[in-house]
Order: sequence, then structure tokens, then C-alpha cells
Amino acid sequence: MERETWATRIGFILAAVGSAVGLGNIWRFPFQVGQNGGSAFLIMYLACVLLIGIPAILVEFVIGRRSQRNPIGAFHALGKSRFRAIGAVCVVTGFVILSYYTVVAGWVLRYIGGSATGAYFGSEEAYFLEIATGYDAVVLHAVFLAVTVGIVMLGIKRGIELAVKAMVPAIALLLAGLAVYALTLDGVVDGYRYYLSPDFATLAAEWTTILPAAVGQALFTLSLGMGVMITYASYVGEDQSLLVDSGSIALLDTVIAFLSGLILFPILFTIDATPGDGGAGEFFIGVGGAFADIPLGTIVGVVFFVTLAVAALSSAISILEVIVSYFIDEFGFDRRVATFGVGVIVFVAGIPAALDMGTFEVYDQVTGELLLPLGMFLLVLFVAWVVPEESLDELLKGRSGSNLDVFWLWWVRTVVTVAVGLTLVLSVYGFAV
Ligand code: PFF
Ligand code: NA
Repeated sequence: MERETWATRIGFILAAVGSAVGLGNIWRFPFQVGQNGGSAFLIMYLACVLLIGIPAILVEFVIGRRSQRNPIGAFHALGKSRFRAIGAVCVVTGFVILSYYTVVAGWVLRYIGGSATGAYFGSEEAYFLEIATGYDAVVLHAVFLAVTVGIVMLGIKRGIELAVKAMVPAIALLLAGLAVYALTLDGVVDGYRYYLSPDFATLAAEWTTILPAAVGQALFTLSLGMGVMITYASYVGEDQSLLVDSGSIALLDTVIAFLSGLILFPILFTIDATPGDGGAGEFFIGVGGAFADIPLGTIVGVVFFVTLAVAALSSAISILEVIVSYFIDEFGFDRRVATFGVGVIVFVAGIPAALDMGTFEVYDQVTGELLLPLGMFLLVLFVAWVVPEESLDELLKGRSGSNLDVFWLWWVRTVVTVAVGLTLVLSVYGFAV
């Protein structure tokens, strides 16, 4: 059977943006800012997206488009089967991320209803503790996963591409609306000040902790290190400029993360909540407390959590597609059978995270701080040292050559290798102590 492709170039870009834009931008990003020194983190994060994120997207793109395969099969197709363990790291990471990502998304579904009825107003903490684990969490994890499975079953053009063409513009519009609303709040001045005034002193004093957090967030938010961009690029024809695409994707993801900050900090400062020290639940508790208090909180809460659910969905389908493409490419499975089967396994894998908060946090930390940097580091080494000529050649396709391509390879071999490697070392060290 012929392998699937995207119908349009914009469909591919939107799918990649849909993957990038997710819980990472709206749930994880503001609390990374809060934990790591406010605007000092923002500066470092923006630098990481530009200097590491964009070149790293290209690392995955060249592997995917060159091989036209899933992340494991890609190594075989490139004649480097010996390195397929790298792809296995990617697919395993995908399993783990998806199994807890859909648990968070289940909470989000719960909060859509909770905002509409005011169920958590006045008892934000008790409400979160009640719904976050246990029977309800398992059921909503299953519901969200079922929707994800439904879309991926329909395939690349009719499933993923159609879905993201509706979802990505909707996310952007809803967030822009919320940002305008945030302008009307009392906390807007303090919130913006906290978020935006450049803080070079903190940056200089604490860069050894800010750097790995910023690199980690850049990888997570751009869906890097587990083969999503390999898989999506494997459905691309020859005629596109990957260089331009990677820049557009990073730009859109960054704009959306930045917008989330413009929404959340005014909201939190309006009720004098500190942009806390993070934790999966604190976001829901803090934001929930704000919606209970601010003008139009009920409706703003519903809109906010619907936006978050849509963003999570367009990311979840990309993770599922990585695993499904492996079973289709390598074992000739029917897409529907593969998607359903993987969905069942992911459901079971997520149950421990939905039942216990401690387990949930282990899933989140091990993937975010360890597996994604590890996967990315291995992919970078592979492109930089095992197949550098093929990678350069792939980048050049569809365009006349330029010094930019040579510069990219040099940059990947030096700055990207060192920065991702250093992040990995610091993360492993952080785990050990
Ligand atoms: N980029 C997504 C987000 O920011 O929410 C999360 C994610 C998706 C991470 C896919 C990794 C991944 F492979
Ligand atoms: Na993101």
C-alpha cells in the first residue's frame, strides 16, 4: 500500500504547530517562568528556542523526510540499522508522555464543566485533590484518549490534517481574545511587570539552573526529542523548504506561549496569587481561584479550559501518530487496528498516573527532564556525526544551496550538541541528588 502524505504544505505546518502548541505552552510554560526567576527565564527561553529549538527541529525534519519512515524504521531506511535504538527511545518516550498527557487533559475536561457550574469556586484545592486521582480521573483519561484515537484512525489527510486546520486557528483566536480580556484586569500592570521587565541580574546569578530548565522547556514545547517531527516530516513530499517551515513553527509556538503569559500573569496578580513554585496541581488551583473571583470568571473559565483542551488534543494526536506509524510501517498493520491497539495500551499505561499523584509526577519528570533531552541528544549526534552529508543534502532539496545550510551543520555540531548534552548531564545530576 502507498504510504500516506499531507494534502497541502500548510496542512503539514499546522499539524506541526498543533503538536507544538499544547499543555506545554499554557500549563507548563507560565509555571516554568514562575519557578525560574520570571523574566530572567523568559529571556533564556527565547534564546533557547531560537538558537537550539529551530536547528533541532531541522535535525528531526531531515531524518523524517529523507527516510519517509517512522522514527525506528528511519534508521533502517537510512542504512544505519545499528542506530535504531535511538528510535526506540523516541517511541518509548511517546508511550509514557501520551499516557500521562491525557490524564492532565482529562482534568482539563473536568474543569470545563467545573467552571460552568462553579463547582470549584471557593474550594479550589479540595476540588483539585478530589478529581485529580481516582475513578473519575481514569474515566476522563479514557474519554480524552478515545477522541485522540478517533482522529488518528482517520489517517493523515482526513484525520490529522483536517482536525488541525480547524483547531489551530481556533486556539490562536481564543487566546487572543483572552489576552484582550486580561488587559481589563486590575492585575495587568503588576502581572506584565513581573513577566516582562528584563532581569539580567537574576539571569547572571542563576543561569546554571535557568539554562537546563529553559532548554528542557524549549524541547518540550516544540515537541522535540521523541520523533514527532521525524514522523510528521516523513509524510512530506520533496518540494518544501524545511528551513522556512521550522522557523514558522517555532515562531507560532513562541507567540502562543508568550500570549499565555500575557493572560495568566494579569489573572494571577489580580487575586494576589504568586506565580507559585509549580507542581501539576498548583496551576489548576491558582487559575481556578482566579476564575472564582474575577469579573466574568465563569465564562472566561469555560473558554480558557476549552482552549486548553483543544490545544492538548492537537498535541496528543501527534504523539499517538508516532507510535501508530511504527506499527503501520514496520508490521504492515491496518491503521485502524494499530491505532485502537496502541490506544488500549496507552490507556492501561496511564492508569497508575491517574490513580496516584506521586506516580504522575514521576512520569512527568522522567520524560520531561530525562527522556526528551536524551532522545534529542542522540538524534543530534546521529545527524551531526553519522549522516552529516545526507542531512545537508536533504536540507538543500527544493532550494539552491546557501551557506546557511553549512552553518546549520556546524551549529548543530557545536552549540546544539553542547547545550543539549549539558542539559542532559545537569538533569541526570539533578535526579541523582
Ligand atoms: N509540545 C507539546 C506541548 O507544548 O504541550 C507537548 C509535546 C507534544 C511534547 C509532543 C512532546 C511531544 F512529542
Ligand atoms: Na508547545
